[in-house]
Amino acid sequence: MAKIVILGAGGRLGAALAREWSAAGEDVLSFDRKGLPLGDADIMEHMLNQLDFDVLVNCAALTNVDYCETHADEAFRINGIAANEAALICEQKGARCIHISTDYVFDGKSDRPYREVDPPAPLSVYGASKRVGEDAVLAAGSRHWVVRVAWVFGPARISFLDQIISRALTEGRVDAVNDKWSSPTHTGEVAKLLWPFLRNVPGGGVLHVANEGICTWQEYGQWALDCALAAGLPLKATTVGGVPMAAIKAFVAKRPVYTPLDTTKLTQIGRLAPRPWKDAVEAYVRSQAAAGVWVS
Ligand SMILES: NC(=O)c1ccc[n+]([C@@H]2O[C@H](COP(=O)([O-])OP(=O)(O)OC[C@H]3O[C@@H](n4cnc5c(N)ncnc54)[C@H](OP(=O)(O)O)[C@@H]3O)[C@@H](O)[C@H]2O)c1
Repeated sequence: MAKIVILGAGGRLGAALAREWSAAGEDVLSFDRKGLPLGDADIMEHMLNQLDFDVLVNCAALTNVDYCETHADEAFRINGIAANEAALICEQKGARCIHISTDYVFDGKSDRPYREVDPPAPLSVYGASKRVGEDAVLAAGSRHWVVRVAWVFGPARISFLDQIISRALTEGRVDAVNDKWSSPTHTGEVAKLLWPFLRNVPGGGVLHVANEGICTWQEYGQWALDCALAAGLPLKATTVGGVPMAAIKAFVAKRPVYTPLDTTKLTQIGRLAPRPWKDAVEAYVRSQAAAGVWVS
């Protein structure tokens, strides 16, 4: 059995991978930011060199897109240089590095979902710093994977989906952007879809992992509210109004408008197909509502 190290296990995706793979019987060793802070090569080397593992999954990242825009040095240090350091240690140990990356490496100007072979052209510091990390991981050796995800949601940390339901419980009107498209991605689904890549799938490269289908934030939010109503939540707002991205004055970084991820390669080589995003959102909202997570 592979021993799996997960970095960034205090975050939304890292927590889910640690939970799901441990539940499936994998030998998982997970580190949150306190347990293994990225950014100091000596600490990382000291910590990882004393461990035995076959796979390291790096979910740790500076993920606040607007914060990265004004803290470029830190963004490149954590998302770029530290990713390189982790991958080099994996290569030396003969372990596989699975590095989580983002749809924001693309400029969003495509007229079809992005494939792994499409050239990245990031618009923001966040996207550019993640791109540096991708390149470093792929250059470290041929057994490593760069896994791009998009619009991640799951129980470990709130995301857009949780926020819109919380707002609809207390406010009479909610809005969301109606001219930005991608593929929502459930963290539990990523755990299931990536499992074959821990050891069974040979080689390495870039891989897109997302739930199937495309939507705007407005459509995503509307479906979340529809599911919340069906789950019996007493919403004050039941309709999500549309606003153009240009109207969101709080955005500091430039965001790509169209970044759905084509998952054909995932299905071909992992032999598992992602669920439609609406099914994944419905199951998530039902289980969170039943657990009493959202209260008005
Ligand atoms: N969220 C999305 O919609 C989305 C979309 C596309 C791609 N991704 C990618 O998916 C991956 C996981 O993201 P996520 O949604 O799980 O984000 P997240 O919840 O922000 O998790 C990232 C984790 O990295 C940790 N971290 C930040 N700086 C660190 C440092 N210097 N040392 C150690 N740990 C550090 C954070 O620590 P704290 O707990 O202290 O914050 C957090 O636990 C990232 O690579 C991200 O780029 C996410």
